[in-house]
Amino acid sequence: MAEKVVLAYSGGLDTSVAIRWIGENYHMDVITLTVDVGGERDMPAVRQKALKVGAVKALAVDAKELFVKYFVFPALQADAIYEGQYPLATALGRPLIAKLLVDTAADEGASAVAHGCTGKGNDQVRFDVSVAALAPNLKIIAPAREWGMSREEEIAYAQRYGIPVPVTVASPYSIDENLWGRSIECGVLEDPWAEPPEEVFAWTKSPKDAPDEPSYVEIGFERGIPVSIDGRELEGVALIQELNELAGRHGVGRIDHVENRLVGIKSREVYEAPAATVLLKAHKALEAMTLSKDQLRFKEKVATEYADLIYNGLWFTALHQDLAAYVQSSQRHVMGTVRMKLLKGNASVVGRKSPKSLYSFGLATYDKGDIFDQSASVGFIHIWGLPAKTQAQVQGLEELEKEVK
Ligand code: ARG
Repeated sequence: MAEKVVLAYSGGLDTSVAIRWIGENYHMDVITLTVDVGGERDMPAVRQKALKVGAVKALAVDAKELFVKYFVFPALQADAIYEGQYPLATALGRPLIAKLLVDTAADEGASAVAHGCTGKGNDQVRFDVSVAALAPNLKIIAPAREWGMSREEEIAYAQRYGIPVPVTVASPYSIDENLWGRSIECGVLEDPWAEPPEEVFAWTKSPKDAPDEPSYVEIGFERGIPVSIDGRELEGVALIQELNELAGRHGVGRIDHVENRLVGIKSREVYEAPAATVLLKAHKALEAMTLSKDQLRFKEKVATEYADLIYNGLWFTALHQDLAAYVQSSQRHVMGTVRMKLLKGNASVVGRKSPKSLYSFGLATYDKGDIFDQSASVGFIHIWGLPAKTQAQVQGLEELEKEVK
């Protein structure tokens, strides 16, 4: 009996060709696994296609809830954004798909897993490192990294074996999408000077065509997790879907990023992430109310580490567990409501309230009700400024003074 391999199958050209190619080159039986993390996809049609192209079995799982609960919301709690721009949608989906591949391989008695990533991107790293951490004995096959076919040769190969070449192949773009966002690269986007054409966007209206009237939306949080919209309690998946729709209509969440891939290449990617953009801003606004200055400063460092770790494929590591424990602890008082205004491509925080708010009206106000003792500032400043005063007296500030003159 032939050995079995579980292939992460999207239904696109690369992974369809991979079914046939693995059979031919590895003589293994291919079981496909299609994971629904919130991309638009006709699941029955995708399974049919896998079988038609030569898979011995075609499986599909709806992993949207798992994705939100174990990947998206923890990343939101961490404020994880790569290089200040990318909310990490694709990067968060990969370790989940890897985990499901590994589990399926165990269930099916497969000796290998496979994915459709090329050898130039981050996704191969995320799959391979995750699989190596979860199941070190599984072999990993990456046909698109191994076959050395050009796009034209791949299409010719598909045609030779009756593998349907979808019309989208005519589109020059490479697209990945899940609930947390849509990633678009290639085509004219490879010229970093070229403005992204309107056709690359699918979830967001052009801000110029978005409504002139703003929408206001109130997002309720418990422990840093969004739980309601305008007072209506919602499960995570539904909440994200609703915000993608609403914020997308206002043109919110378009991101144009020249990013640093782990494999040393700078690449230009365009993202659409309406819900992520709104939620990350709202979450930060609530943290600003409920965390101390020192917690906020430290958490920013953790956020950078956390984002890098997700981007770099290190989800299944001890460092991640450690950082995640810190993040969880930091969220225990992050509760309350944030009011967002969506208008013409912008999502702005316009209000926030929390039962655990550290904002004190009495301390902040310049009006009646001021409880801050201004005379106490004198002693505080005396001590605060002591090192500056001492050093200036002993060592002088000639250099600085020269510059000012
Ligand atoms: N650059 C993003 C990342 O590394 C997205 C990669 C997938 N993008 C795509 N258009 N297929 O996470």
